[in-house]
Amino acid sequence: MAPTIKVGDTVPDGTFTYIPYSPELDSHAACGVPTKLTVSKDWKGKKVVLFAVPGAFTPTCHVNHLPPYVQKYDEFKAKGVDVIAVVAANDAFVMSGWGRFEGLKDKILTLSDPNVEWSKKLGLDLDLSALAFGTRTARYALIIDDLVVKYVEVEPGTEVTVSGAEAVLAHL
Ligand code: BEZ
Repeated sequence: MAPTIKVGDTVPDGTFTYIPYSPELDSHAACGVPTKLTVSKDWKGKKVVLFAVPGAFTPTCHVNHLPPYVQKYDEFKAKGVDVIAVVAANDAFVMSGWGRFEGLKDKILTLSDPNVEWSKKLGLDLDLSALAFGTRTARYALIIDDLVVKYVEVEPGTEVTVSGAEAVLAHL
């Protein structure tokens, strides 16, 4: 799959839903309230690292993709990254649950791409109907600086390589 977005492009506008971290969410009885993040407004002037996965809690995403971003959080911050976000097609409650399970607190935003609308604009949707997953976000990573794409890579296979924390850090 080849993304339609490329380095130098301005990212398309769009809306993610998510549940911002608050200490009440440390109680697993709390659900939180989904809110919206608007790309053009919330990421204006920010350096953003975004990686997308086909599904919260799925094996590669859960074991290989997200944890290195958590472990290398301080390295991303030292490179001037304002926002780290993981995106998937799961709803905001599932994404928040994944973040809470992983102890992300407010370090990494867990964003839902409703109906894969934003990733489709980048040519980065993935048909996983054969697995009964429907349409998902591909496994990809972006570096966005003041809404301009500095890095975009999509995984050619099922492994985490070009979209992993190590590869992205090397391009910051
Ligand atoms: C994974 O291993 O991350 C995965 C497995 C099945 C569908 C999507 C993702």
